[in-house]
Parts: sequence; C-alpha cells; structure tokens
Amino acid sequence: MEKTKIAIIGLGTVGTGVAKLLLDHGDRTARHAGRIPWLEKVIVRDLEKPRDVEIPTGVLSDNLEDIVNDPEIKVVAQLIGGTEPARTIMLQMLEAGKDVVTANKALLAEHGAELFDRARELDRCIAFEASVAGGIPIVTNIGQCLTGNQITALKGILNGTCNYIITQMQQHGTDYQSALKQAQQLGYAEADPTLDVDGSDTAQKLAILSHLAFGVRVHWQDIPLEGIESLQLRDIQNADRCGYRIKLLAESKLNGNAVEMNIAPTLVRKGNPLAEVEDAFNAIRVRGDAVGPVFFHGQGAGQMPTASAVVADIIDTVVGRTRLTFGNLELWSDAQSPRQLAPADTAVNKYYIRLQVNDDPGVMASLTSIIGRHGVSIASINQQQTQSDDPENTVQLVIMSHATTAGAIKAAADELKNSANIKGSPVVMRIMNS
Ligand code: NAP
Ligand code: HSE
Repeated sequence: MEKTKIAIIGLGTVGTGVAKLLLDHGDRTARHAGRIPWLEKVIVRDLEKPRDVEIPTGVLSDNLEDIVNDPEIKVVAQLIGGTEPARTIMLQMLEAGKDVVTANKALLAEHGAELFDRARELDRCIAFEASVAGGIPIVTNIGQCLTGNQITALKGILNGTCNYIITQMQQHGTDYQSALKQAQQLGYAEADPTLDVDGSDTAQKLAILSHLAFGVRVHWQDIPLEGIESLQLRDIQNADRCGYRIKLLAESKLNGNAVEMNIAPTLVRKGNPLAEVEDAFNAIRVRGDAVGPVFFHGQGAGQMPTASAVVADIIDTVVGRTRLTFGNLELWSDAQSPRQLAPADTAVNKYYIRLQVNDDPGVMASLTSIIGRHGVSIASINQQQTQSDDPENTVQLVIMSHATTAGAIKAAADELKNSANIKGSPVVMRIMNS
C-alpha cells in the first residue's frame, strides 16, 4: 500500500492522542484512507521530556526544518496552543507546501482570515474539526451535511472544562478551585485555564461556528460574554430547586439580517437535553429551516476524543476530501460579511435574579417597584431565610422574571445594586428560551 507521510507538531495532550491512534491503529487509518498515513516526524520543544507514547526511533525531533525540507511530508497536524508561534509556524508549513490540520481555535478565531486566505493563495488547505467541541463532528456537519439549510439558530455547551466544573459543584458540592484543578489534571483545560473559565474559549468556538452557519464575521471579543468565575454553589442549588441546571450556554440566532450572540451562565430547564449534559461533554442544538432541530452530543475535551477529530481530518486531507470542502467554504473569504452582530440590549429572555436583602418592613415593595419601573414583570418570587439568627438581618430573595430585554434587566440590576436595602450585588442570569 502507498504511504502518505504525516508530521505532528506538539506532543502534549492532543498530540499524544493523535500519535497513539496513528501508531497503534495504522491498519484502521490505512483502510479508511486507502493508503498508509505514515507518522514520519514529531516535533517537540524538549527532546528529554518524558512522553506518554512511545515514538519510533528517528521520528522525534526538535527541528521544524525536518518537516519543511522533506517534500514527501504532505500533511502536518499542528497541535500547539496559543497564537504565536502557532501563526508563524502554520504560515511556514503552508509556504512549504503542506496541508495543515489544527485543533487551535484561538489561532483561527484571531488569525483565521489571514491563514485561510494564504492557504487558498497557495492552493493548500486547513482542516479544523477539532477546534470546536472536541470529538463532536460539528464543523463537518455545519460545513457539509447541513448545507441544504439556512441555519437559523445554534445553542450549545462548547467548553468541557466549564461544564466539568459546574457538574462537580452541582453533583458533589466540590468547590470551584478543586474542580478546576481536576479538569486540568484530566487534560481538559487550556494551558492558561483563564481562557476556559472566563468564556474566551467558548467565544472563539462560537465565532467559528457562527461564521460557518451564518456567514457573520464577528471578532470573538465582540461577543457579549460572561464566564463562570463568579458562579456560586447557592445559585446552582437555587436553580436546582426551581427545576433548572446552570450551564455556560453559547447562543447564536438569526434575527432578520443580524445575528444575536451571547455566552453566559444560563438556567436550562431540567429535561431539556442541554440541561443533562454532564462533565466534559459538549452539546450543540442546530436549527435548520429544512431539517428542523438537530442535536449533537459527545466529549468536548480530552485526549482521545480530540484525537478522534484530528485523525479524521488527517484522513480527509490525505484522501482529498478536505481540499474539496475547504475550497468551497465561505469561511473568511474576502467577500463582505453578509450579516452583522445584533445589539446586545435588545435580546429577549426570562431572568433569574438573586438578591440578599434587609429583612425589614417595606423592603420587598421597594425592590419590586424598582424592577417594575424598568418594565420588568415578575413571574415568581421566593423569600428564603437562610439563618434565623443572621446578625445582619438579611434574607435571600429569588425572583424569576417574565420575558424582557437585556437592556431592561441591566438597568433594573444597576438600580437595585445602588439600593440601601441590598447587601452585595444582585446576581442576574438568563433563563434559556426553549
Ligand atoms: P498541551 O497539552 O499544552 O500541548 C501543547 C504541546 O505543544 C506541548 O507539548 C508543547 O511542548 C508543544 N509546543 C508548544 N510550542 C511548541 C513549539 N514551538 N514547537 C514544538 N512544540 C511546541 O495542549 P493541548 O491540550 O494538547 O492543546 C493543543 C491545542 O489543541 C490547543 O490549541 C488547544 O486549544 C486545542 N485543543 C485541546 C483540547 C484538549 O482537550 N486538550 C481539545 C480541543 C482542542 P512542551 O511539552 O514542551 O510544553
Ligand atoms: N479547553 C477546552 C475545553 C478544550 O475545556 O473545552 C477543548 O476545546
């Protein structure tokens, strides 16, 4: 059988998984590719560092020129994180005539336009299935399988680390820091986990998916964004009592010629498939005008699920499938973006509001009148005395609103925050529309 030579750059969590699949399951990859995807070189920074995979003699190197100078290496799986030197290395590989496979969403969200344009100029291709939702084949599904549709909405859980942390807090009462540490040990988190918990990683993935689905060219930093760093166990418990789970939900929805986008901890009604997504699993509900809703669920982070997506991209590239689709994807083309990001203030949702308030006569009336003055209608209100001997004489109020705009709820929360009857800041979270 013929061989196509492959190289890997970066032998961390994902690179190790890809090497294992190529080395341990060569017969399987060869069957699918119709030729042997042969692991010719693996580039690392430190040759002495212990590795979790046994790399054959002569394959490991710390010199990128070993790839550049070998014209028989046709496909490079670039599996390092961050934007530099990842950008420079990817350009170098494209210039050297290699097709590239990547899992790096930060790189694509930041420099996708330049990299895609350069790849097309050089008649090369870039495959990036693993950059969004780990092992779930969502890029292929939106980019190829659903192209008979206009996608009208995407909703999803796109960060395994955050979902793992929330699940541990909710199911085991684990504190936030310990849950984050576990996610790092399990290989789910980014090298800098701030990118996971502050929502940046989710925003980079949503920008890529929305670009594919709607043609909207939005910089990931312009997406309204809230992470999970200040999520508290008591909100998870309150939500649970009211019949909800809290999820870091990414949403993108067509509204006329604009696209509404948002990422925030959100209450999702129990029984909704998105509410039941646990641990490092991800899920995405895509709505198409012809197909209706389609639901994708699977492991969104971790070594082997991500390697599964990378190896499929390697096979697609070796076979020539990526070349066909990459050429036709409208992604990051020079054409004007046909759609714009909708203003954040006009999005309509129901809300959960938690207030710690003075337990005195007239307080409830004064607070509900603030909420009412901003045009927000209250659906339910629950006052719960946590400690009867609270020296501060405060009580927790949990308010659920009817549907209202993000602008109105923000104005109400700002005024509540300044009220002398409230201790601390109000906690406000969206409730997912069905
Ligand atoms: P990682 O464990 O930190 O591994 C990155 C590897 O790249 C490290 O081994 C590092 O070397 C190596 N590296 C960095 N710069 C290099 C350079 N200039 N030359 C050669 N090697 C270099 O990261 P990861 O979790 O595998 O993630 C890799 C990419 O996949 C990231 O873009 C990430 O966002 C994405 N991704 C990760 C997951 C996941 O679950 N982990 C899932 C989907 C996508 P050292 O070992 O010397 O530090
Ligand atoms: N850090 C990412 C996550 C890896 O936790 O989802 C997968 O992209």
